[in-house]
Amino acid sequence: MNEIKHIAIIMDGNGRWAELQGKKRVKGHEAGAKVVKKITKFCSRDKDIERLTLYAFSTENWKRPRLEVEFLMKLLEKYLRSELQDYLNNNVRFEPIGDIRAFSNSLQKTIKEIEIKTAHCDGLVQSLALNYGAQDEILRAVNGLKNAEGDITQEMFSNALDCKSDVDLLIRTGGDHRLSNFLLWQAAYAELFFSDTLWPDFTSDELAKIIKDFTTIERRFGGLK
Ligand code: FPP
Repeated sequence: MNEIKHIAIIMDGNGRWAELQGKKRVKGHEAGAKVVKKITKFCSRDKDIERLTLYAFSTENWKRPRLEVEFLMKLLEKYLRSELQDYLNNNVRFEPIGDIRAFSNSLQKTIKEIEIKTAHCDGLVQSLALNYGAQDEILRAVNGLKNAEGDITQEMFSNALDCKSDVDLLIRTGGDHRLSNFLLWQAAYAELFFSDTLWPDFTSDELAKIIKDFTTIERRFGGLK
């Protein structure tokens, strides 16, 4: 049976979920944040899962209308502040990936504060991808290694990335079949699952079913059976 240590999710479909109900798109993000909470709790109860990486804001999401971007920033700050107790209760360590220097000072402060306050938790790592893009991550890693001596090894490169662990299972909700600049290096041998469910409707039961299917897949990593 396959081991599942690292799950990564592209949480797509918030806007459509809201529009289908005649609501503003941002209501979908609000509903989506509640699902983040539920899925994190579910993963924290599974002792095999070490890391859950969630795509919360991409380097391309700045192109959205200003009001939607502002709403997402506020939602993120509110979420992190209100989740601190749950992180601690569930022994979850919060770890951001991405270039958060583009965020407001207040949001950066909150992100760092939650990271520090949960640093001792040794259960699940919930990693939120914030102003994250894999191409940007790779470029920052290359620039960080510019003065390294000798040839750069795969291990050195991996360690220079924000996210240093390979993805086992990558899920995208919302019906589209693309990676959208998410964990391009780390997902080299990830199993990919695409769900038509819009993120606010995604449940722990659906995740449990995907995990069950994942465990039966034959993973060969380029080798033979
Ligand atoms: C994609 O849906 C989702 C996002 C761009 C943001 C993801 C944000 C959340 C799940 C909520 C906030 C998260 C936290 C951690 C507080 P979309 O807007 O592209 O949906 P669409 O494809 O239907 O338009």
